[in-house]
Amino acid sequence: MSRNLSQYATIFARWGGPSQEVKVALLGASGSVGWKSLAAVSGMPNAKIVAVVGRNRERLEKTLKEDTLPGFDKSKVQIYAGERGFETMLRNEEIQVIISATPSKVHTEQGVAIAEAGKNLLIEKPLALSIPECNILIDAFRRADKQLGVIFQLRYNPEIRALKRLIQEGNFGEIGMGHILVQKGRDERYWTKKEWFGVQAEGGDAVSNQSIHQLDNMLYLVCFEQIDSVFALCQILDRNRPVADPSWRSKDATDSAAALFKLNNGGWITAHMSTAENKHAEHRNNIQSISLTSTGSNNYIKLGGEKTDQFEVINLERIWYKAYYDEDGEVRFLPEKETPPATWRKKGLPDPYLLFSHYREIAEFLDCVARDRRFPLDGIEAKKSLSLVIAIYESAVNQQEIKLADVFENKVGRSVQDYLL
Ligand SMILES: NC(=O)c1ccc[n+]([C@@H]2O[C@H](COP(=O)([O-])OP(=O)(O)OC[C@H]3O[C@@H](n4cnc5c(N)ncnc54)[C@H](OP(=O)(O)O)[C@@H]3O)[C@@H](O)[C@H]2O)c1
Repeated sequence: MSRNLSQYATIFARWGGPSQEVKVALLGASGSVGWKSLAAVSGMPNAKIVAVVGRNRERLEKTLKEDTLPGFDKSKVQIYAGERGFETMLRNEEIQVIISATPSKVHTEQGVAIAEAGKNLLIEKPLALSIPECNILIDAFRRADKQLGVIFQLRYNPEIRALKRLIQEGNFGEIGMGHILVQKGRDERYWTKKEWFGVQAEGGDAVSNQSIHQLDNMLYLVCFEQIDSVFALCQILDRNRPVADPSWRSKDATDSAAALFKLNNGGWITAHMSTAENKHAEHRNNIQSISLTSTGSNNYIKLGGEKTDQFEVINLERIWYKAYYDEDGEVRFLPEKETPPATWRKKGLPDPYLLFSHYREIAEFLDCVARDRRFPLDGIEAKKSLSLVIAIYESAVNQQEIKLADVFENKVGRSVQDYLL
C-alpha cells in the first residue's frame, strides 16, 4: 500500500521535536505498526535515525524506502538484520533511544537487554504479558537509570486530551458511569497475516492486543485508583477461525470479553470488547467508543467514530457543546450557539489515528530523554492497563470479582499466555 506521507511534512515541522538532537534506532520497523514510528521520526526535527532493526533485511529496506517522509536521507541509516541483528545493534554506542514494535512475547527479553546496554526504550503496548514481566522491565530500567516509555498513542489524540482537560479542570464532575465499546471485525485475512495474530500464547488476543487501547483510555480519564474491582466474561465467539498451519500453531485466542469495573464511589464502567463481531462486513469495521457520565450534574460525553475521534454528544450542565479544532489541531469546546474564531475548523487533522498521535508521543519521549525529564507514560503507568487485562481474564476463568490492586501487586493473576479458554 502506498501511503501519502507528504501531507505530514509541514505539520511535523511546525510541531517540532526534542529540544536537542537524539539518536534513535527503530526496532521492528517493518511490522504492521513499526512503520508509523519510522515515518514520524523521519520527519521530526532534532531526531536522527541511526538504524533500523528486524529479522528480514528486504523488509527493512522496503520500509525505509516507502515509509519515510519525502526528503529523508536514507543513505546514513544502518540496517541490522538477521539472527544477530538485534544484539549487534545494541553495541552501537551512538544509539541513545530504541523505539520498539516487535511482537509482545519478546518485549521482556529484548527490553532487559536494551536496559543492560544502557539505552532508553519506547515500546509498543502492551509493556509485557504478565505483571512479573512488567516488574522485571521496570527494575531493569531503574537499575540502568534509563527511561522506559510505552506507546499508548490514543492518549495523544486531540479528542482524548480535550476530555482529559475537561475532567482535570473540574468542568465535568466526578465520573459515575461509563461505557467502552470495541467492535473490530477481524476476518481470515487478519488472522493469517502474522504468525502471532490470534495466538493466545503470544498475546494475540482481543483483550491484550486490541482492546487494551480503550482500557488505557479509560484509565487515563478515570484514574486507576478510582477502580476497585472487575467482574468479567470471556469467550471465543468465532469458532471457525482458520488455523494457519496446524502443525505448529493454532489460532486459539480469546476474541470477545465483557467486563464490569466497579468504581470506589459506587458507580461503574462497562466494557464490551470483541474482534469477532461484524467480521463479514464489506469493509473491515472498527467501531470504538467511550462515553462518560458524571454524578450529580449528569454531564455526558460520548466519543465515537471508527477511530474514537469524533464527539457524538457533548452535553454539559444542560448546554450542548460543539467541538472545534484550533490552529494546532487541539480540540476546543464551544456552546452550540456561539461562533468560533475564524481560524478554528470543524474537522481535525487528516487521519490523526494513523500518524499524529504516534508523532506526539514519540516527540515527548525524545524530549524527556534530551532534557533528562521523567516520561509520564512509563512502565508503572503501563502496568496499570495490563492489570486490567489480567483482572478480566482472572475473573472470567474463576467467575469471581477481582480486586484490581491485588493484580497490580501481583497477589492474584497469571500471564495473558496462560488464559486459554
Ligand atoms: N500502538 C498501536 O496502535 C499498535 C498497533 C498494532 C500493534 N501494536 C503492538 O506493536 C507490537 C508489534 O505488533 P505488529 O502487529 O506490528 O507485529 P508484526 O507485524 O508481527 O511486526 C513485528 C516486527 O518486529 C520484527 N521482529 C519480530 N521478531 C523479532 C525479533 N525477535 N527481533 C527483532 N525483530 C523482530 C518483525 O521483523 P521481520 O518481519 O523482519 O521478522 C516486524 O518488523 C505488538 O506489541 C503489538 O501489540 C501496537
